[in-house]
Amino acid sequence: MRCEPDLHSEGLQCKLSDMGTLGQHIGRSMRAMMQYEYGPPDLVTLREIPQPVVKDSEVLIRVRAAGLHVGDCFAMRGSPFPVRLMTGLRKPKYGVPGMDLAGQVVTVGRMVTRFRPGDEVFGCCMGACAEVACAAEATLVQKPASVPWQQAAAVPTSALAALHAIRDAGKVAPGHRVLIVGASGGVGTFAVQLARFFGAEVTGVCSSRNLELVRSLGAHHVIDYTQEDFTKPGPRYDVILDNIENRSLAECRRALAPSGTLICNSGTGASGMAMAVRLLKPLVVSPFARHNLRRYLSEPNFKDLDLLKKLLESRKLSPVIDRAYSLDETPDALRHIEGGHARGKVVVTL
Ligand SMILES: NC(=O)c1ccc[n+]([C@@H]2O[C@H](COP(=O)([O-])OP(=O)(O)OC[C@H]3O[C@@H](n4cnc5c(N)ncnc54)[C@H](OP(=O)(O)O)[C@@H]3O)[C@@H](O)[C@H]2O)c1
Repeated sequence: MRCEPDLHSEGLQCKLSDMGTLGQHIGRSMRAMMQYEYGPPDLVTLREIPQPVVKDSEVLIRVRAAGLHVGDCFAMRGSPFPVRLMTGLRKPKYGVPGMDLAGQVVTVGRMVTRFRPGDEVFGCCMGACAEVACAAEATLVQKPASVPWQQAAAVPTSALAALHAIRDAGKVAPGHRVLIVGASGGVGTFAVQLARFFGAEVTGVCSSRNLELVRSLGAHHVIDYTQEDFTKPGPRYDVILDNIENRSLAECRRALAPSGTLICNSGTGASGMAMAVRLLKPLVVSPFARHNLRRYLSEPNFKDLDLLKKLLESRKLSPVIDRAYSLDETPDALRHIEGGHARGKVVVTL
């Protein structure tokens, strides 16, 4: 999607006909972080560009905070290459980073039934690092009044990834011994809390500086990866969620209980053929192994976002915010994530 008013779009014509608030937004411009070609964070600069045009099933949102994650760095660099099948083969189709947001509804498309102007929402979108962004109705939920903008924006992609790993791929149940590698990262900080929520005995692997943080999220045990090696003889786990994948499949399997599940969940640290092999290996080996070796793709959906909203509201889930950046500092935020040492989530506030 190129961010220019599409005067022929069906959604726009519908809203023009009812002369709703959208009419006032046509042709308006907004401040947004924008890149016109794939590459490093320096290519993402502050621009004045036209506001996106809301489609029938979409909601136009005044962004109050955007959540960033590793996937934004993939989209920014157009790497690993398969990312370009979604973001544009030669250059970014849209070019505004940010897939998670929290904000206020400005206007809604013709088919939207759950939201109306003024509602406070959070969820998944395209182009959150802008004053205004469009999101599909199905990937948004109401923001609880008690949850600050930054916290809500930190949740969607990373908490959904953690939920889909722990509940769906890992089938974590009460009493399971669960090991989370990368427990202090964007996905890991949610995974520790969700594994506790599903009744597991949780062990988090992190560095010395994050031991207290991971304990405070509910981990029963912590392993300092600078001092100890979880793959060496020791406790065996029913489920391992590996967000880092800097150990081989064979090494990780040594820490698994006889019929345990290993969830491989890292898109970083390798490229090209090495990455392809790493991505496929668990899936190829699993049918012949006594262990269950999994990889999964987390897709946003209303039901699970709604569950996360309820957990936030009841304080059973609490996002960890590493740093908040201003809109024009978005390149610094992306650099920080690429450094691989974020402590919880990185957000941009507007
Ligand atoms: N399957 C899906 O659909 C899906 C969805 C979303 C994300 N993901 C994947 O999930 C992975 C994790 O994402 P994320 O957002 O959590 O990453 P992240 O926030 O960038 O992870 C950074 C954290 O990892 C820790 N860390 C670094 N090396 C470590 C090691 N050897 N052992 C333990 N912890 C270590 C760092 O702690 P220190 O600074 O202390 O080292 C830091 O806190 C990514 O690779 C992403 O591609 C998958």
